[in-house]
Amino acid sequence: MDKFVIRGGNPLVGTVRVSGAKNAALPAMAAALLTEEPVILENVPQVRDIETERKLLAAMGADVELGYGRAQHRTTICCRDLVNPEASYELVKTMRASTLVLGPLIARMKRARISLPGGCAIGARPIDLHIKGLEKLGAKISQEHGYIEASAPRLRGTRIVFEKITVTGTEDLLMAATLAQGETVLENCAREPEVVDLAALLNKMGAQIEGAGTHCIRVQGVEKLHGARHRIIPDRIEAGTFVIAAALTGGDLQVSGCEPQHLDALLQKLEECGVQVYVIGDSIRVVGNGPLRSADVNTEEYPGFPTDMQAQYMALATQAEGTSIVTENIFENRFMHGQELVRMGANVKVEGSRAVVRGPTPLSGAAVQASDLRASASLVLAALVADGETIIDRVYHIDRGYERIEEKLRGVGAQIRRIGELLPKRVAVPGVAV
Ligand code: EPZ
Repeated sequence: MDKFVIRGGNPLVGTVRVSGAKNAALPAMAAALLTEEPVILENVPQVRDIETERKLLAAMGADVELGYGRAQHRTTICCRDLVNPEASYELVKTMRASTLVLGPLIARMKRARISLPGGCAIGARPIDLHIKGLEKLGAKISQEHGYIEASAPRLRGTRIVFEKITVTGTEDLLMAATLAQGETVLENCAREPEVVDLAALLNKMGAQIEGAGTHCIRVQGVEKLHGARHRIIPDRIEAGTFVIAAALTGGDLQVSGCEPQHLDALLQKLEECGVQVYVIGDSIRVVGNGPLRSADVNTEEYPGFPTDMQAQYMALATQAEGTSIVTENIFENRFMHGQELVRMGANVKVEGSRAVVRGPTPLSGAAVQASDLRASASLVLAALVADGETIIDRVYHIDRGYERIEEKLRGVGAQIRRIGELLPKRVAVPGVAV
């Protein structure tokens, strides 16, 4: 198992480029199931979750072709002959986003068999809202031997009000509704940029969707969708992670190739903390040359402060003057990084959905363990300002969603190296042409 060895103390200086958004690429790849024609996706990040989704699609009979050389971030998916509309436990257990294939499979193949995802490190994460919505669209769904079995002659448009805002739930039903008969109105939808990006791709494929990015999305169902070419939006969470890295290390960093407006809530919070932030086109320049001030954070659905930035923000709060109260409102167990930060010298007390962080406390390098994707990122950030060497175990979590993070950080001055089994540059996937 790989580990990161990080020696803290270097300010990050220079320019770092943001990759495509994992959480936009995953639903976009699932959308390819809706058509017999090829869907060409550009700016797909090379991260482990994307490899898992390629395996999932290939196991169903899709042709998945990866670009190479300068086109290495391109993936072409053709789902002409889908022999096996099934997502096995082996794949779903490693990536919950696999449930995103449920809606498209029912809509196009009239049936699906998907393993129920099990527990998750950050919360229970049920998928009841996906299921209820698909049932409202006319699917018959049963559960047996840990699998969801679904069938439907043709889905029928209807009105669905989500009981709770769900990102992949919105995406799953949006995809299903594109091929339903008549109009579907989805209310209380997630407004995340990734939902908007998916709707843009689906419209290029011939869908008729209005209102993505608002709470109410209207979909006029069509008979068939066709192929399309689409560029995935930049990863706002990766960008935000680099922004915090610069602020924390007192650096002067240009985070380029991002959509700064997708990071509004984070950038405003950092200004409150005393960080200088300049937006220039598709770049954010962060200058962290003054003392950091504490500020409270409440995670919310977009456009609020993202839960996916909470762990990284906590690393920053350990170095800010005063008390920061971090309240996690989306997932019930997303504070595992708190204990690891304490092992590095932070003063963090977790009380239910709140973490109280008192700073600044000097951090010292220690052996720590990554527990989930964003928790790992927060440990990397803490290690960048810790005294001495930090060894982070289980970095496979970070490989799920950050593309070559150690190379990118090294390029702007961090002392970070990977030890252990090296990740192959290109993971061979049975059935996938490389
Ligand atoms: C997406 O997960 C992201 N994943 C997560 O990114 C992100 O943390 C999360 O949205 C919130 O922004 C992808 O886009 C692939 P939800 P998702 O459904 O869609 C509850 C990362 O680090 N809920 O919006 O699974 C749920 O338990 C990750 O990249 C139900 O109760 O999250 C949670 O409390 C991890 N029933 C809340 O809703 C349901 O059927 C929001 O979850 C669905 C969700």
